[in-house]
Amino acid sequence: ELTAVALLLSCLAHLHVSAGKCPHAHVNLETGPIGIASHESCTLAQAPSSYDRAQVDSLDIDAVKADIKHVLTDSKAFWPADFPGMEAHAPEGHYGGLMVRQAWHCSGSYRSWDGRGGCDGARQRFFPEGAWPDNTNLDKARKLLQPIKEKWDVKAPGALSFSDLIVLAGDTAIQAMGGPVLGFCAGRIDDADGSASLELGPTREQQAVAPCTRGQGMCEQPLGQTTMGLIYVDPEGELAVPEPKNTVAGIRSTFARMGMDDKETVALIGGGHAFGKTHGACPTGAGNDPSESPSNPWPGTCGSGSLKGKGPNAFTSGFEGPWTSKPLKWDNEYFKNLVEYDWMLIRGSGGHFQWQPLAKPGATKQPKDVMMLTSDMALLEDPEYVKYVKLFAEDQAELDETFKNAWYKLVTRDMGPYSRCLGKALPPPQPFQRPLPPPPSQLPDFDAVKADVTSLLKADAENGAKFTHLAWQCANTFRATDYAGGCNGARIRFSPQKDWPSNKGLDQVLDLLEPIKAKYDTLSYADLIVLAGTTALEQGASPPLSIPFCGGRTDASNGEGTEELGPRSYMNVSVAISDNTKVMGLTPRERVALAGILRSPSLQRAAGYTDSWNAGGSPSKLTHDYFKVLMDNAWEPTKSAAGVDEYRAVASKQQRFMTPSDEGIRTTPEFAAAAREFAANELRFLQALAAAWVRIMNADRFDGPAGNVCD
Ligand code: HEM
Repeated sequence: ELTAVALLLSCLAHLHVSAGKCPHAHVNLETGPIGIASHESCTLAQAPSSYDRAQVDSLDIDAVKADIKHVLTDSKAFWPADFPGMEAHAPEGHYGGLMVRQAWHCSGSYRSWDGRGGCDGARQRFFPEGAWPDNTNLDKARKLLQPIKEKWDVKAPGALSFSDLIVLAGDTAIQAMGGPVLGFCAGRIDDADGSASLELGPTREQQAVAPCTRGQGMCEQPLGQTTMGLIYVDPEGELAVPEPKNTVAGIRSTFARMGMDDKETVALIGGGHAFGKTHGACPTGAGNDPSESPSNPWPGTCGSGSLKGKGPNAFTSGFEGPWTSKPLKWDNEYFKNLVEYDWMLIRGSGGHFQWQPLAKPGATKQPKDVMMLTSDMALLEDPEYVKYVKLFAEDQAELDETFKNAWYKLVTRDMGPYSRCLGKALPPPQPFQRPLPPPPSQLPDFDAVKADVTSLLKADAENGAKFTHLAWQCANTFRATDYAGGCNGARIRFSPQKDWPSNKGLDQVLDLLEPIKAKYDTLSYADLIVLAGTTALEQGASPPLSIPFCGGRTDASNGEGTEELGPRSYMNVSVAISDNTKVMGLTPRERVALAGILRSPSLQRAAGYTDSWNAGGSPSKLTHDYFKVLMDNAWEPTKSAAGVDEYRAVASKQQRFMTPSDEGIRTTPEFAAAAREFAANELRFLQALAAAWVRIMNADRFDGPAGNVCD
């Protein structure tokens, strides 16, 4: 076993302190005497080989856009383009509306609750997103883009993901129709399947993570509220009852889930519906849904002959008609139509309720041949929404500006920090990307900082546990789902993060570190927090570990952006630990190893628990005792005096307490298996912990030319 420890130590031996540069630290445990599976513990997850960051960055975006522009007006027999002959430059019709809708549906699945969804991954190609009723006929849009994907796969391998292509097609379509686009953040990485969307529903996974307990029409966050399985609002009105004012709440909650305020919401709906049309040529004409005919979803049954189910006979949503008289041209007519006409409820050709314009009393002109959905009419039913409808009806420039920024946010929100965005059309950092200041050109002497931390560790037997806990709390907000969170920025110093119950007492730990912070001009809080926690772990083990540290973090000036990273509530402890682990991008074994870090009883008491599992012990000594105590005792649920849920060891002589997340580990098979492994073998625990620690501490470091500066 000592040989294996030596191997681990030699692998983790270097404290990398040069300006933000950390070479790989590979640990190949297969060569170790204990023969456990090969594991590159110090490296972060690699992007699939189909993605090449340098290629993405240098891709000739204008050339790809030229290809897309050509496709937009090149009508194909398998899905003829709408509006043939409407524009001189598009005699065969135009796919602009379809491409905008595709990019919006790909991106609009994003939810800030857990960072899931969004176009990064292009899971719209797979189950479950591909089968959502919202996404009817988008298989045709992807088929139109497929030749471009294939061409660029040969021309610049790894440069153009399907997800980037979908968003770029939306952008290009908007521009081709005269609309405003801020720019393009390239770098989306395609998923190999749709599993990362299973929790979005409607699936068993969604029922576990976010059940719609109150029944159809009353789902709560993070689900779309009106109809389970439809991520968007039901266009026909809540539960298909065409009452516009009942749809307002659904629209507001749906768009808030994507991080949009009222003004952005109105600009997006009306800006989006400046383009294209709804499709519902005859009642119930979509044909089989994808579960019945996966290779030919929604074949379309309206009409007959060569145009059966296509072109003028298309059936997508079952509504019929455009919102404006110039659906291939960007303008604010949608908003003008809303305010200038009275609207009458009718059943359209597809059998669904929709709204038809009537001239207002005294008007001289006949209304145009346009329509509105009940969800569009809802914008007239809320004082805030109607304010923006009127503003955009009067002020085209205001619409241009608001739509341009909101669209960019819509399609980029799931990409995480600015440093993940690549490419030649990249606009400057936007507020929603929470930009951090760049690291100083000269980083502090981390060896000296480490020596100062070591002095503090000697000063108090609990300091090690406190520093470790602070670093873990700082880093564990990271979400692999949308690359948000993590310790970079040290937003844990600010509200709202510092006020979360789980972070109570950490301000005093920060105070302990304050003299060290003050001593070094270029030392960030974020680096200090991570280095203090890392040093405490290293010195907690006997013999001490050596865990690589990668410096170069910087500090945010406020806590904005952490609101949505707070604790999520789940149905039970098992779902909580499983889902949180997935969201963090960790394996169950990594998460279990991290649960075995040093634990501070006084911080646990500050968070409202009666005490800790190691009360009265040596909290800054790193052993595998946590796993033995957790797995060898019986635990009963109870509540602390402060009203916090906790678990008490039933027959133990000492008073020992575990948290719900400890109980989740004990009672969830994949997690319990790792806990048993670590209870039996301390070395394996230390190896797994060191590796998982490096991974989570560096998971948010996208600030480097290779993608992750610490990788
Ligand atoms: C089409 C609903 C928001 C862009 C449609 C269709 C429906 C719909 C039912 C017709 C689909 C078809 O039959 O082909 C909604 C609802 C929304 C919403 C309920 C939210 C309350 C948006 C947003 C955008 C957008 C935010 C983009 C920024 C489009 C476009 C089309 C469309 C471009 C035309 C597609 C085509 O021409 O093929 N929408 N939409 N929509 N939507 Fe929306």
